Amino acid sequence: MEHRSVDFKEETVKAALRALPLGGLRIFSSIGSTNDAALEWARGDAADMSVVLADEQTAGRGRAGRQWHTPAGKALALSVILRGGDSQPPSGRLTGLGALAVIEACDSLGVQASIKWPNDVLWAGRKTAGTLVEAIWSGERLRAAVIGIGINILRGSAPALGAAFYPATCLEEALGKSINRLEVLRAVLSSIVAWRPLVHTPRFLRTWESHLAFMGEEVTLILDGGAAVTGEVLGLEQDGGLRLKGPTGVLTASVGEIHLQPGNDRIR
Ligand code: BTN
Repeated sequence: MEHRSVDFKEETVKAALRALPLGGLRIFSSIGSTNDAALEWARGDAADMSVVLADEQTAGRGRAGRQWHTPAGKALALSVILRGGDSQPPSGRLTGLGALAVIEACDSLGVQASIKWPNDVLWAGRKTAGTLVEAIWSGERLRAAVIGIGINILRGSAPALGAAFYPATCLEEALGKSINRLEVLRAVLSSIVAWRPLVHTPRFLRTWESHLAFMGEEVTLILDGGAAVTGEVLGLEQDGGLRLKGPTGVLTASVGEIHLQPGNDRIR
């Protein structure tokens, strides 16, 4: 079945986001990566809460150097620039902010999704969105952080089984009907606006934690070097790291070069 895509014309997008306090908005019909464009803008004069949006990405990036697929007319790819100097929270919490915003957007559609720590959003055990946080530093000072968010929305947006690192799906599959991408965009940005002032708080951490997939279940963390640690998920650390009960006691893992697999399967 053919699905009509929502137009990303500047007036349409601006009208959809009118009520939100954005610092600026750049819209591309096709771009390499919205994160790259946002980082470049942030090195210049981008104001806080500026957003880069693209209909298609030709060189979208995921964590750990993976590719992220954003075909034209089917998905959402956006990057939000946050300024705030020394008051910026650790990037682990910003990863949580992006993931929680996607969860709340899904919820507003009636899709119950969960977060595969640290940055994947799952529905029915399949990945439907991911976040990539990157930062610009001036020595020890954080000049800006960029939260990149990619969401598989319409059929044809998710990579085929076997083509992705983790089995993928899209929100249309979850909901059983077509979805207006701009509604999802507005819901994601509204959630970021609402949670951002609270991102340092215990309430934010508790809310993020309440959406974690695999709580109380056994998972395997795979380090970049290939070493693996298996344990039961206990919850989140203050910096957004994961707390696990392993065979030798409680372990913590920071948001970084770590991947999580459900069960004790060590396949990367
Ligand atoms: C992941 O799951 O590994 C993270 C995926 C993040 C993809 C988004 S799409 C918008 C932004 N631009 C990029 O190049 N990457 C992020």
